[in-house]
Amino acid sequence: MATINTPQARYSTGAIILHWLIAIAVIVNWRLAEAAEGLERPAAAVYMDPHKAIGMIVLVLTVARLAWRYMNPPPPMDPGYAAWERYLAKAVHGIFYFLLLALPLGGWFASSSFGMGIDIFGLFTVPALPVAENPALGKSVFELHHTGGVIMILLVGLHIAGALKHQFLDKNNELGRMIPGLGKR
Ligand code: HEM
Ligand code: HEM
Repeated sequence: MATINTPQARYSTGAIILHWLIAIAVIVNWRLAEAAEGLERPAAAVYMDPHKAIGMIVLVLTVARLAWRYMNPPPPMDPGYAAWERYLAKAVHGIFYFLLLALPLGGWFASSSFGMGIDIFGLFTVPALPVAENPALGKSVFELHHTGGVIMILLVGLHIAGALKHQFLDKNNELGRMIPGLGKR
């Protein structure tokens, strides 16, 4: 099958498409949440409504990505990397998957604690989870979400630095694993 990982050690096409869709969505969501900071309710909603909708789309994409990953295991990492680099990369990837599920699920739970569903670009509403209304709990979960979101963005910085180090200092075409056609491996 053309989409199965090949010996050139590139990720499968499905994994690459999902990686880049989710990467763009996460960065857009971060900028939207930053833009809303310090604004009061009606003005903040201009940024936070799409933030919430994009977050729910990331949840769906991440479930699809994990199912895809189960069926199409990633290519082995370059054995030339130091053990600490391999562990660090694996740990960061694991935390990414955790946060890609926990951030939207937490946001959904917190909204539900305020009795609110999530409007998806005026097309339909994802209903509130069947939890008791508890605004104090919702507020605490949003605070945790904020912290988790900041950790995610810091780790994205580390992830990009790692990718660029392997690409340009180790010169092993690391980016070719996630960008089709970028050199041969
Ligand atoms: C902004 C949000 C991003 C997220 C959430 C993210 C997440 C991930 C995750 C979870 C993996 C592991 C894939 C797996 O094994 O299942 C991965 C791999 C990778 N990412 Fe990202 N990524 C992001 C942005 C980027 C950017 C901007 C670059 C390029 C500079 C990049 C380059 C790579 C590369 C080269 C790999 C392959 C790593 C390897 O196995 O050798 N990523 N990414
Ligand atoms: C993967 C998906 C998501 C990511 C990456 C993400 C990321 C973030 C980040 C980085 C912040 C903090 C921004 C700052 O420093 O000002 C934030 C705040 C926030 N997010 Fe999300 N988010 C996601 C999904 C959601 C969902 C689904 C909801 C609601 C249903 C939501 C609701 C909120 C709210 C209300 C805040 C403000 C919280 C506060 O500052 O107390 N997010 N998000």
